[in-house]
Amino acid sequence: MRILGIETSCDETAAAVYEGNTNGGHILAERISSQINIHARFGGIVPEIASRQHLLALPPMVHAVMDEAQLGWTELHGIAVTAGPGLLGALLVGVSYARAAGTVNAIPVMPIHHLEGHLLAPGLESGLPPFPFITLLVSGGHTMLTRVDDIGRYTLLGQTVDDAAGECFDKSARLLELPYPGGPAIAKLAEDGDAASIPLPRPMLDRDDLNFSFSGLKTAVMHAIHRTPENRRTESFRRNIAAALQEAVLDVLVQKGLRACLRDNIGDLIVAGGVAANQRLRDRLTSETTTHGIAVHLPHPRHCTDNAAMIAYTGFRRNQAGLKSPKSWDGSARWPLGNL
Ligand code: KG4
Ligand code: ZN
Repeated sequence: MRILGIETSCDETAAAVYEGNTNGGHILAERISSQINIHARFGGIVPEIASRQHLLALPPMVHAVMDEAQLGWTELHGIAVTAGPGLLGALLVGVSYARAAGTVNAIPVMPIHHLEGHLLAPGLESGLPPFPFITLLVSGGHTMLTRVDDIGRYTLLGQTVDDAAGECFDKSARLLELPYPGGPAIAKLAEDGDAASIPLPRPMLDRDDLNFSFSGLKTAVMHAIHRTPENRRTESFRRNIAAALQEAVLDVLVQKGLRACLRDNIGDLIVAGGVAANQRLRDRLTSETTTHGIAVHLPHPRHCTDNAAMIAYTGFRRNQAGLKSPKSWDGSARWPLGNL
């Protein structure tokens, strides 16, 4: 079965073709075009610009992946397209394209939940662990712990009550006058920093539940910057604060991820979403989960951030699981994962 995946929910235009059968599968072709440079000068994503860029980038990109996969339209079994959540105008570019291509070529179109794509992404490389497993999804818009009992059976265990972890990196990076997106910039700056030199809180760790909160941490970063006189905000101070912030966010993510597994007595933890590209998080997760007998599964860093391979793969897995697309659907900016 060959599925074309299309992703235009935010600031990456992406297309991919995935081929799979009951024994597994692989990516035949994939492309991603980031708009980061276009939005960087505004310090964040401008929705109208995002939609227009998708409109320019998507059609030639789909043709490029079809060429690379050496496929004609009639050789596709489905088109999987991100239908939400995300920026509505941006989503509609992908959805309209998928619908038109599906209608003209008589191929079924599957609306895919962007977060379902993220949380199944490690399956692209190594297949998924046996059900049930826990997924910690950490991106620019979400920080959530989900129990996965089967494809399409997701139970939300906890989520952020305010900012997402990636958002905390992005906003703190702005305070440090680092470029957008903040996560990679903070990680780079943190490499030679001393995390212990600036004490920062570990929000919600003292609470029993599996929720998160990161807006106070960003405020603590702001206070640490403001109480340091300008002439002492040296490069070494900036490195230390980046390291302190990274360690505070990672402490919370690692411990809450572990807690969810131990609470439900589940031995497999998937960590996905843009922040899962963070190398220090990947190293810490791998070393700190083994002592508890928990196996951690991480997508390739390329498939942590937004991409279309995860959307095509999710379409494939839903099809294999016998899940039908709703008769009537549309792009939707808000779409709770529990409604799947
Ligand atoms: O999943 P994603 O590409 O987009 C959505 O939010 O859906 O995630 C983007 C987020 C941004 O907040 C970015 O700062 C963060 O992921 N990020 C990272 C790293 N790479 C991306 N955060 C920490 N370390 C990284 N290496
Ligand atoms: Zn995403």
